[in-house]
Amino acid sequence: MSLFRKKNIEHMLQASAQSAGLKKALGALDLTFLGIGAIIGTGIFVLTGTGAVQAGPALMVAFLIAAVACCFAALAYAEFASTIPVAGSIYTYSYATLGELAAWVIGWDLMLEYGLATSAVSVGWSGYLQSLLSGFGISLPAALSAAPGALPGTHTLFNLPAFLVMMGITALLSVGVRESTRVNNIMVAIKVVVVLLVIAVGAFHVQPANWHPFMPNGWNGVFGAAAVMFFAFIGFDSVSSAAEEVKNPKRDLPVGIIASLAVCAVLYVAVAAVVTGIVPSPKFANVAHPVSFALQVAGQPWVAGFIDLGAVLGMLTVILVMSYGQTRIIFAMSRDGLLPAVLSRVHPRFATPFLTTWIVGLFFGLIGALVPLNVLAELINIGTLAAFSMVSIAVLILRRTHPDLPRAFRCPGVPVVPVLAVASCLFLMVNLQPITWIAFVAWLVIGMVIYFGYSRHHSRLARNAQ
Ligand code: ALA
Repeated sequence: MSLFRKKNIEHMLQASAQSAGLKKALGALDLTFLGIGAIIGTGIFVLTGTGAVQAGPALMVAFLIAAVACCFAALAYAEFASTIPVAGSIYTYSYATLGELAAWVIGWDLMLEYGLATSAVSVGWSGYLQSLLSGFGISLPAALSAAPGALPGTHTLFNLPAFLVMMGITALLSVGVRESTRVNNIMVAIKVVVVLLVIAVGAFHVQPANWHPFMPNGWNGVFGAAAVMFFAFIGFDSVSSAAEEVKNPKRDLPVGIIASLAVCAVLYVAVAAVVTGIVPSPKFANVAHPVSFALQVAGQPWVAGFIDLGAVLGMLTVILVMSYGQTRIIFAMSRDGLLPAVLSRVHPRFATPFLTTWIVGLFFGLIGALVPLNVLAELINIGTLAAFSMVSIAVLILRRTHPDLPRAFRCPGVPVVPVLAVASCLFLMVNLQPITWIAFVAWLVIGMVIYFGYSRHHSRLARNAQ
């Protein structure tokens, strides 16, 4: 039974009510900005190339499929996040509802989402930085430009820019720099302007002939691309996690979630239409900066340069937010005794988990420098999709076990929407490559070994019970 030991929801709610509490200041528009800031990044700027090779111009459809799946999952996620309004990730919420083992699995999965996503975005950032530098005639030695095996036919060893950007962000986070709403709003503006520029300028260079064949690899190609492009929407959960700080969660949360997903979906579909209309899809193979590449092909080097610059700036916030999320999850798991206590040590001067921040930064920085992006993206997606399926199931369980808990936001259409969320997450998961599944299962097995070898015996709940 100890596998199902739970934190006491009532205690958690009391503790949260007694603490100063977060200011309830956010409205639907703020949430939409928050979402867009976290969503637009490497997915659209980089993975679009892989997606176009796989799905052809039907990449547009792949984006829509991924967006719909995200929408179901986000609605269920929002109920979970708003029912137990203690600051923290779904790891904390699931500890109170599903029990320790499930919380561990979700926390362990979230490391794939947040941790590996920082690596992935740093790789995307590196591609655009290099494209920007090449505009000034500067190029890095090939060996230091990408991970081993990332560029077939080129001898690459280490992605130096990806590693360095992670070190820079880690340094900022370790001394307590956090993203502010103002910085987020500026970044959102930059990213949206860049994407609109791609669409507005690119549209004049589209050759409709490039849209045929629309689906060169059939539906299999489209579904496979949807499973990869799901990555481009990751970050929408930040809207749900802000539940506690929302003025009118009942109305603002669903509006914020759906609006940020809808805005991104429309932008993504338009970008997909434009870039596949300019460049024949197979030509995107192994291009690290496909969006600005399309504008270069269109004979617009200046616009391409602006896109490079906007992408380089805009992706920084995604790395910052994700790294922050990762360190806080490890911090929470360590405070609960599931990971060694040193990981929740707080720096006396900076009041940050200094050591954890550097361990996480170095670890995921090295992964970004050494592993190709496509491999990373699939792994991130499978971990995130698994965590979201568990959360959607948790919503159903919680409705039964705790029907009377006040819920700031109730997922509409229960049980249909959570069931659709699970179904769509599983559908995307089965469309990922077998190698991704193998890596995912290996990751879970390592997690189980740590849980049964260490965490179970050191859990604070277990010690309190003795
Ligand atoms: N959705 C985020 C990105 O595409 C993770 O970079």
